[in-house]
Amino acid sequence: MNGPALSIQTLDKVYANGLKALDQVTLEVRRGEIFALLGPNGAGKTTLIGAVCGIVQPSGGRIEVFGHDNIREYRKARSHIGLVPQELTTGMFETVWNTVSFSRGLFGKPANPLYIEQLLKNLALWEKKDTQLRMLSGGMKRRVLIAKALSHEPDLLFLDEPTAGVDVELRKSMWAQVRRLREMGVTVILTTHYIEEAEEMADRIGVINKGRLIVTEDKKTLMHKLGRKELLLDLYKPLEALPPSLAGLGLRIAEGGMRLVFTYDPAQENNGVVSLLDRLREEGVKCKDFNTRESSLEDIFVQLVGDS
Ligand SMILES: Nc1ncnc2c1ncn2[C@@H]1O[C@H](COP(=O)(O)OP(=O)(O)O)[C@@H](O)[C@H]1O
Ligand SMILES: [Mg+2]
Repeated sequence: MNGPALSIQTLDKVYANGLKALDQVTLEVRRGEIFALLGPNGAGKTTLIGAVCGIVQPSGGRIEVFGHDNIREYRKARSHIGLVPQELTTGMFETVWNTVSFSRGLFGKPANPLYIEQLLKNLALWEKKDTQLRMLSGGMKRRVLIAKALSHEPDLLFLDEPTAGVDVELRKSMWAQVRRLREMGVTVILTTHYIEEAEEMADRIGVINKGRLIVTEDKKTLMHKLGRKELLLDLYKPLEALPPSLAGLGLRIAEGGMRLVFTYDPAQENNGVVSLLDRLREEGVKCKDFNTRESSLEDIFVQLVGDS
């Protein structure tokens, strides 16, 4: 079987209070990729994960996990999924070993101490296997949650805001951990409101806002598309409208006609700046001053999310 790990079609969720948390979400996540669902707080990320994991009942649409309908074949679908929830709640007096083994049992899987041992070693938790959770550092607790989520050998792992409220060092070690999971063949879907995290981790990125998936794109394409620079040209005389010869270049008028803004891709050799300057001269448009400005990913994200 070679279909996608996850296929979501026109998924809707309206909560009992009338709030539309998901609005016609359609998405496919490929096997073996790290997919980042990027969106501000309240965008619907946790709701989406909940719907896939059978925690939230969708109002419409369809979800398949490795080809299994997550309602008609719930147990099969769910057995493929590991979930690392946003909130850390777990029995603090249990040992690492017992917690993780117990989780596996919940999925009706026969005990497999060798698998659990390997898992704990992979997550650098082996030394702590007999330690109670309450004695662990924050980073280790997070890793225990991952071990729990992987205890039943799922091949699709959800990480809901894995590094929210976590310090920089721990964030980096989490990122390394997630990469290792991919090397183990696990498909990873993580949610985040950190652009940097999506940029660092993801093969593909989906941007969600107000329950709508605005963009789904390969990271490189997205970053390329979004990684723009602006050339700001301050004019001597205001321009009321763009002369026809300057139309279609991606030029816009700002500051009441006193400024032209040209957006271009700095990565491209033929980025249009030189020919723009030529055309301005031909048109007799004179510039008093010019500046360039790099649109940060933050800017772009805000713009993307603000537009929708
Ligand atoms: N059980 C619920 N009842 C009503 N509204 C909810 C419930 N859970 C979440 N919401 C609302 O749905 C929207 C999406 O929430 P959520 O999926 O948690 O977003 P995110 O994880 O992206 O921050 C938010 O406006 C939130 O307040
Ligand atoms: Mg959330």
